Amino acid sequence: MEVTSALVEQTLELFEQDCSASPRVFFAPGRANLGGAHMDYNGGKVMPAALSRGTCIALSPRTDGLLRLRSAQFPGETAEVPIADLRPGRTKSWSAYSEGALYYAAQAWGDLPGLDIFVNADLPMGRGLSSSASVECGMVFAVSKLLEVDANVDEMIRLAHRAENEYVGVRCGILDQAAIFLAKADSILLFDCLELTREHLPFPSEKVAIAILDSGVQRELANSAFNERVAECTRALALLQEELPGVTCLRDVKRRDFEDQKDLLPPNLARRVEHVVSEFERTNIASRALRNGNLAGFGATLSSAHESLKTNYEVSTPELDTLVEAAQSVEGCLGSRLTGAGFGGCTVSVVSADRQEDFSAIVPEVYERKTGRKTKVDWFHPFSGPEEISL
Ligand code: GLA
Repeated sequence: MEVTSALVEQTLELFEQDCSASPRVFFAPGRANLGGAHMDYNGGKVMPAALSRGTCIALSPRTDGLLRLRSAQFPGETAEVPIADLRPGRTKSWSAYSEGALYYAAQAWGDLPGLDIFVNADLPMGRGLSSSASVECGMVFAVSKLLEVDANVDEMIRLAHRAENEYVGVRCGILDQAAIFLAKADSILLFDCLELTREHLPFPSEKVAIAILDSGVQRELANSAFNERVAECTRALALLQEELPGVTCLRDVKRRDFEDQKDLLPPNLARRVEHVVSEFERTNIASRALRNGNLAGFGATLSSAHESLKTNYEVSTPELDTLVEAAQSVEGCLGSRLTGAGFGGCTVSVVSADRQEDFSAIVPEVYERKTGRKTKVDWFHPFSGPEEISL
C-alpha cells in the first residue's frame, strides 16, 4: 500500500498556487490504537497501527526568517510569523501543531531558515485518528531532512510530543507520536510507555483487515475532557500512594492491591483505576495472542476494552456504542472498540479478510437505521512511518 497519490498531487498544486519554489514533500500517517486505551499517561502499554492516510507537507526554505504556513483544511488562512517569534502558548489556532513541532525541532537542531509550508491531510480532524500528531511528526521529520540531521527516532518522538504537550497544551501521553514514528507495515506496535521498549507483532494482511468507522460526532470539548481524565488518574494515584508508596504510576497497581485499597478512592476514581488495571491485563493477553497468531483472541480484547471504556472510563458515546454493537453482530468481526481518546470520533474493528464485504454492507446500514446518521467503512492494513515522497 502507498501514500495516496491524489493527496500528494493536490498538496503540490495548492503549494504552487502561492509559491514559485519547488518544494520537498513529506508524508506522516495517522494511527488507530487497538490496545491500551488511556494507558500511555498511566505508564502502561499501547498497541497502535499507523494508517495509510495522514498528512502531506510541502515545504521550501525562505531567506527572510519568516514562517508562512497554509493548510488545505483552513483555506484562506495564512499563519505568518517570524520563526524567531515562535513561543509555546503563542496561538491556539490550527497552526499551533506545526509551529510547536518547528519550535522544538529548531531548539534541538539549530536555527531554521524561513519556511513556506503547505499542509494537507486526508485524515478527518478530531476523530481519534491522530490528525494532530500526524502534523507534528511530519513536521519534525521534514525538518530533520531539511537540516540533514541524523535524528534518532526517540528524539523525534519526544520533540513531536513536546509540541502537543507544551506548545498546544494537551496533556497527552506518548502513544500517538510513538505510533507514527515506530510504525511498520503489517504489524501492530507493542510499545511500553514506561520502559520505552517496543516490539512489532504480526498482523497478516491476507487474514485480517482494520475497519475504521466515523461516528460523525466531533469530539466536542475533547481536550478539556481528556485533560480531566488525566487529572483524575493523577488524583487516584496520589490517594493510592498513601497505602502503596512503591507505586509510581497506575500501571504499577496490581489487581490484588487495587481490590484491597479500592475504598481509598471515590467511586468515579475507582472506576478509572479499574479500567487501567484491567486494560493493562488486556494488553498482555492481546500481545500474547498476536505472538501466537491467535487473531480471534486478539480481537476479543478490543471488545472487552470497549466495555471498560464505556462503563469504567466513561469516554464513549451512544453513537460509538451503536457502531461497536453493529460491528460485533457481523460474523467475521473479531472485535471492535472506540479508538483514540473517545468522546466521539471513530471506532476500530478487526475483521476477517473474507468477511469485509458483508461488514461494509451491514454496519453502516444498521448504524443509519438506529441513529439516523450516515457512515461508511474505511479499510486499512497497518502502514509504515513518516517518509519523504520522491517527486
Ligand atoms: C489521545 C491522546 C493519546 C492517548 C489516547 C487514549 O489520542 O492523544 O496520548 O492518551 O487519547 O489512549
